[in-house]
Amino acid sequence: MAEVPQPPLRHLLTLDDLDAPALHNILDTAAALRSQQSFAPPEHSRTLLNLFFENSTRTRFSFEFAAARLGLRVLNFDVEGSSITKGESLRDTLQTLRAMRPDIVVIRHSSSGAAAYAAEVMGEAVAVINAGDGFHAHPTQALLDLMTIRDHRGGFDGLALAIVGDVRHSRVARSLLQGLRVLGVADLRLIGPATLLPSHPEALGARNFTDLAEGLAGVEVIIALRLQNERMLGASLLPSAEEYRQGYGLDHERLGWAAPGAFVLHPGPINRGVEISSQLADSERSLILRQVENGVWVRMAVMQMLLGGDAA
Ligand code: NCD
Repeated sequence: MAEVPQPPLRHLLTLDDLDAPALHNILDTAAALRSQQSFAPPEHSRTLLNLFFENSTRTRFSFEFAAARLGLRVLNFDVEGSSITKGESLRDTLQTLRAMRPDIVVIRHSSSGAAAYAAEVMGEAVAVINAGDGFHAHPTQALLDLMTIRDHRGGFDGLALAIVGDVRHSRVARSLLQGLRVLGVADLRLIGPATLLPSHPEALGARNFTDLAEGLAGVEVIIALRLQNERMLGASLLPSAEEYRQGYGLDHERLGWAAPGAFVLHPGPINRGVEISSQLADSERSLILRQVENGVWVRMAVMQMLLGGDAA
């Protein structure tokens, strides 16, 4: 393929700026890192700052592991122990941290647009990676999902994929749908109660289904989303977790409604026995831990890309 010179990407805020070759390039780099298993001498002069304003286990540690494998020094910003609790604004916090010259800032925040705002404040001096902003975007999660699907199927041709759950409020779903569309996946289905589905699925290149059996028919890949109790039950979008399980909980029997050999992904954290049964989550039809593993490789690939390829 002819090399088309592209301006280097400074931040990864959404998948907006990545076309299909760029997406594949990241997945190829991640796969090469995985097979290589050893890396160039540590780059101790580079610093990654984790700025998590929302709780996280896998995403935060995945960035930490990725940085550690590349030899970057990792600093974790402790929101509870910071001057944010004294009322310092996000802008002042970001400006203060920028003055200390981190090379990469990874930000997770409950406000949609927070990562773009951080990139604006940081400017060209610091690479900003969005680790989830509000309902908006979670690009590295989408990349690890894409890598896991590509690994398992060998590509995206003819793929029918369903996302089950609270799609309306999911940054994971939004970024993944964007990546899948860029890669040419046409059969994208969103399944859940009407209150949790987007009102304009066609804008996301997808179709809504309120019936699980109907939505799963012929589907090869199913993405289960976490029932976000903290966001939904209070807002009366759903009567109860048990009612959700009855309508949309995935188990082995219901997996039989999808295409033969269909498999399940979940971004985690999972509510066992609600959106997915324990037996299914722990079975060979679930790729949940592969996703976690691939998360580290894609984040390494993204860091390399943003640092100009010389971090490893
Ligand atoms: C998700 C998130 O926080 O956006 N988890 C993740 O990053 N792996 C989804 C969730 O919290 O349900």
